[in-house]
Amino acid sequence: MTLGAYAIGSHEGYIYVRQEYPLAVENVLLTIKKAEEYGFLGKNILGSGFDFKVIVHQGAGAFVCGESTALMTALEGRVGEPRPKYIRSNIKGLWEKPSVLNNVETWANVPLIINKGADWFTQYGTEGSKGTKIFSLVGKIVNTGLVEVPMGMPLKDIIYKIGGGIPGGKKFKAVQTGGPSGGCIPEELLDLPVGFDELTKAGSMMGSGGMIVMDEDTCMVDVARYFIAFLTDESCGKCVPCREGLRQMLKILTRITEGEGREGDIELLKDLALTAKEAALCALGKSAPNPFLSTLRYFEDEYEAHIKENRCPALSCKELTVYTIDPAKCKACMICARKCPADAIDGGKNKIHIVDQNKCTKCGTCYEVCPSRFGAVTRISGEPVPDPIPEEERIIRKKKKK
Ligand SMILES: Cc1cc2nc3c(=O)[nH]c(=O)nc-3n(C[C@H](O)[C@H](O)[C@H](O)COP(=O)(O)O)c2cc1C
Repeated sequence: MTLGAYAIGSHEGYIYVRQEYPLAVENVLLTIKKAEEYGFLGKNILGSGFDFKVIVHQGAGAFVCGESTALMTALEGRVGEPRPKYIRSNIKGLWEKPSVLNNVETWANVPLIINKGADWFTQYGTEGSKGTKIFSLVGKIVNTGLVEVPMGMPLKDIIYKIGGGIPGGKKFKAVQTGGPSGGCIPEELLDLPVGFDELTKAGSMMGSGGMIVMDEDTCMVDVARYFIAFLTDESCGKCVPCREGLRQMLKILTRITEGEGREGDIELLKDLALTAKEAALCALGKSAPNPFLSTLRYFEDEYEAHIKENRCPALSCKELTVYTIDPAKCKACMICARKCPADAIDGGKNKIHIVDQNKCTKCGTCYEVCPSRFGAVTRISGEPVPDPIPEEERIIRKKKKK
């Protein structure tokens, strides 16, 4: 930042960091204090006559304040809302002064490039995306954490070679990159090299490097609903396509995951998504439809199954999943009956158990606690619930020991 400030003749820099990340705040404050002690910051830096100070601003937890104009408005002590960008920040930004705004990760590359040269930096990466990138690997992956990789590394290598693959022998389903408003990339694109253009072409984005890995148990319609719910909450409300459009998208997606999808919902969702993409004021609204558009692009069959067949193929949407007990496998061990929080399992010590569908809250506890050697509790979706077996066939007669 000092180098950047020197280049543009600025004497003041800000680091905007969310107050919810206390370790980051502590580390950055400590680093600034040390830099001041060594004479790298403050007045007359290293005797050069150049003054530069860095102020840490703790954000109050609004996602939209990551948007550059909202961020600067928040720094000025006003409500963090974006403004139209017909005047660019490098003409009129913070305090109406020409400003440069970059991610800390970007700034961190500057001294390395100056010391080692552009050729050194550009040996890493692809034609359009140079250098390295830090990703935050989370979700259904063995090794979670921050990883720095050369741009252009295939997604597959990040997920399998570095991330160690999917835990529990499950199958990979998708990876969401770029944060809450990124898109979901499916298995057939796992060879995709990570880069700005490649991710955008795939319907996602680089963002600040989030990577959420999802396995076969993930419902992609519910993933879209989840992220649109987050973004609806975080919309600042200043422009209609984002404020109203996302809210309507959320209503429809929620209905679909609850088994109330209707003919025409997909078209309506597309209409709202494309309007927000086109007409929202800032990049929050413009990118918010990505989770929906990308899941529709790669997993349209899941939307169709929910709407037309009342079925969640991943057996994840609560309202569309039914728990039943296979009488041939039930050993009447009472474990599920005891653990059921809704008292919805009828059965006794020697009596085959039955799920009372009227009482069942679909919490899935019975499925989780049924010993795997029995595997008697089954989840179904979109199929008729089998009739319970007649009362007289429910008694298990134990063989007498000789
Ligand atoms: C809604 C929204 C949230 C954002 N959140 C972040 C964030 O958390 N961290 C970040 O570095 N950039 C975030 N950005 C991007 C910044 O506005 C900005 O483009 C970026 O930090 C510029 O730095 P760079 O060009 O060095 O990447 C966000 C953008 C939007 C629209």
